[in-house]
Amino acid sequence: MGILDGKVAIITGGAKGMGEAHVRRFVEEGAKVVVADLDVAGGEKLAVELGGDALFVELDVTDTSGWEAVVEQTKAAFGTVDVLVNNAGTGEQLLALLDGKGLGGITVEGEASLLDTLLSVVEKADPRFAIVIP
Ligand SMILES: NC(=O)c1ccc[n+]([C@@H]2O[C@H](COP(=O)([O-])OP(=O)(O)OC[C@H]3O[C@@H](n4cnc5c(N)ncnc54)[C@H](O)[C@@H]3O)[C@@H](O)[C@H]2O)c1
Repeated sequence: MGILDGKVAIITGGAKGMGEAHVRRFVEEGAKVVVADLDVAGGEKLAVELGGDALFVELDVTDTSGWEAVVEQTKAAFGTVDVLVNNAGTGEQLLALLDGKGLGGITVEGEASLLDTLLSVVEKADPRFAIVIP
């Protein structure tokens, strides 16, 4: 029994780095995971390796219009969404955010808008929901 048995997570930036580590650990703990990332080759490779426990969906988190499709594809594959690990970005972008600059389209305002979009989609059907922001 894993501590995440029966849970379904969307992990943005899940194709590499810390996001990939989150994906692998979530699957080890029993979750089904949607790897949502810009990196098609890396994301698909990881999802294939993890078999039926993971699905890759291409997403640029700076384009909020893609979010509804990610949520719908997650529900179609795994039935629901329980967790968002909103990890996409890079350490370099984090430093730029802390400097108040933003980089590569990822800004504090953009992140807030992304979460609003996701919550408006998820809340309709799934009142229990967790958001993790590394
Ligand atoms: N590395 C650190 O020390 C550290 C510390 C604290 C927080 N963070 C945060 O953790 C996150 C991941 O950092 P990392 O070092 O693993 O980065 P990384 O560069 O190793 O991986 C980032 C992943 O995010 C994806 N990505 C980048 N922009 C994207 C976008 N617009 N839409 C979708 N996917 C996108 C990339 O394709 C990649 O797969 C970042 O948000 C970073 O700010 C990192």
